[in-house]
Amino acid sequence: MEAWDAIRARRNVRQYTSEQVSAEDLDRIAEAGWRAPSAKNRQPWDFVIVTDRDQLRELSTVWQGAGHIASAPAAIALVVPVPPSERRLVTDTYDIGQATMAMMIAATDLGIGTGHSSVGDQDKARAILGVPDGHQVAFLLGIGYPADRPLTPIRRPNRRPFSEVVHHGRW
Ligand SMILES: Cc1cc2nc3c(=O)[nH]c(=O)nc-3n(C[C@H](O)[C@H](O)[C@H](O)COP(=O)(O)O)c2cc1C
Repeated sequence: MEAWDAIRARRNVRQYTSEQVSAEDLDRIAEAGWRAPSAKNRQPWDFVIVTDRDQLRELSTVWQGAGHIASAPAAIALVVPVPPSERRLVTDTYDIGQATMAMMIAATDLGIGTGHSSVGDQDKARAILGVPDGHQVAFLLGIGYPADRPLTPIRRPNRRPFSEVVHHGRW
């Protein structure tokens, strides 16, 4: 898929077919995150690829919006150190967003859907994944082939009008 098509085709996919995502494709998705830019090239993240059904089911309980992880063939947990300062909180949050988006676009390019989830119960998420102290599980990304329809460019995305959002020169 062309990059522009992948950008336009990505959408939040929360229902997946039972088809497994290959280890090679999961590594490629993770590599996209690994390649993402970060403040001072700090790369604050670690990524945990999860394919074990029991682990996925347990992860689906760490946040009210994580239900889709239970039936996903795979998930990637994005882990960051507990930020030592307000400034680091801002840059680490920005960086984790960049890594997430890179993974989502790489997945879309392969025809694979992704669906984020926040994490509420940090202690539980850390225990499920064996994450060391001093770290937090920032987000989960459910990964699998879409159960509804293939990923193709969305002509009219559900967004605020382009002309309202984009300004030229001044607000
Ligand atoms: C920071 C963040 C947290 C999100 N958390 C969840 C979540 O907990 N559960 C969920 O189903 N979707 C979650 N989403 C997905 C958004 O609801 C979704 O991206 C948005 O509605 C736009 O839809 P689209 O991704 O199909 O373009 C999250 C997205 C972001 C950026």
